[in-house]
Amino acid sequence: MTASGETIPATPTHTTVLVTAAGSAPAIAFIRGLRSQSELSVSIVGVDTTARSAGLFDCDRRYTVPRVEDRQFLSAIEAICQAESVDVLAPIGNFELELFAAAAPGLRVKFGVRVISNTPEAVALARDKRTSAEVVARHGVAVPAIHDQSDSAAVPVPVIVKPTIGAGSHGVSVVRDRAGLAAAVKHAGKDPLIQDFIDGQEYTVDLVVDPAGLILAAAPRIRVEVRAGQSYKGVTVNDPEVEAAARRCARAVGLTGQGNVQLIKSAENGRCYFVEVNPKFAAAMGLTIGAGLNVPLLYVKLALGLRPRDDELIRRERVWLLRSWHDRVVAEEEIDAVASWDRSRTVQ
Ligand SMILES: Nc1ncnc2c1ncn2[C@@H]1O[C@H](COP(=O)(O)OP(=O)(O)OP(=O)(O)O)[C@@H](O)[C@H]1O
Ligand SMILES: [Mg+2]
Repeated sequence: MTASGETIPATPTHTTVLVTAAGSAPAIAFIRGLRSQSELSVSIVGVDTTARSAGLFDCDRRYTVPRVEDRQFLSAIEAICQAESVDVLAPIGNFELELFAAAAPGLRVKFGVRVISNTPEAVALARDKRTSAEVVARHGVAVPAIHDQSDSAAVPVPVIVKPTIGAGSHGVSVVRDRAGLAAAVKHAGKDPLIQDFIDGQEYTVDLVVDPAGLILAAAPRIRVEVRAGQSYKGVTVNDPEVEAAARRCARAVGLTGQGNVQLIKSAENGRCYFVEVNPKFAAAMGLTIGAGLNVPLLYVKLALGLRPRDDELIRRERVWLLRSWHDRVVAEEEIDAVASWDRSRTVQ
């Protein structure tokens, strides 16, 4: 018990963590982060829609589940939580975020599972790049000016055109000549956002935020080389301005769980411009973990009600990510042995 009368839970002897979308890059980074520590005794249960998923074989136990759009997805997750006595659930996939944010209270009450998640409101706000830019601007962060597509003659190039709700850089184009604007708007789909193009250095800031919304760590890294929206080369840096802007963005959106903020530091005026808040674990989070900030471990600890120590919240600067392929070779019998979620009902 602390001086304020708050009860601090004891470190559990063992914790079972369920990781979704286990084949995805952020899931693999998450799993490796938990594997690289010895503070908590952890078993990892992985789920994915296909057994041919490399990340599943980094897990202690593994299941296939329906796709997130399938009505049975949540029942499948619940069955596995029960069968495996899951303590903490880490949602990874971008399009699972709404579902788990909404399901988190029920999973806690019904199965004692603590879901690492933001609130449904924060997920919805972060998803919408127009509304989140407005909210972030009210918190004092520079945002690229947004232009009205109906007055295309007045749009000052260069601009960036992207879907208001989008991910993975789909539908994103840079328009340097106004003649290309109409095609870019079409490419962005039904709700395009036309923004000033900010020329400068791009940063992603990995965050550690506690369930009360207190930001415990904000770790910037430069996106040195990006392919299809993913960092291939990056380096950790200490930059108080980038960090401060990221903290403001996270507070503005109301993050209380996993997240990262993308910003561009303008070459023209040195200000940090908001690109987006992602209420999820980043694919290149492995760099931040490798530099000493074990983001997955910290979120598992927070989910268990444990307070991170100060020395866990720092990381080294000038550490590089040089992404490379990692082949996992798996015997077909092992793939065939991956249980479908409905078999979890019979697991004792
Ligand atoms: N206003 C801007 N000025 C300059 N570049 C921008 C701007 N907005 C976006 N970009 C560039 O386009 C990329 C994709 O934009 P954004 O992150 O908003 O889309 P996304 O679909 O969420 O992409 P991803 O999932 O790859 O992050 C950014 O990483 C950045 O390089
Ligand atoms: Mg982005």
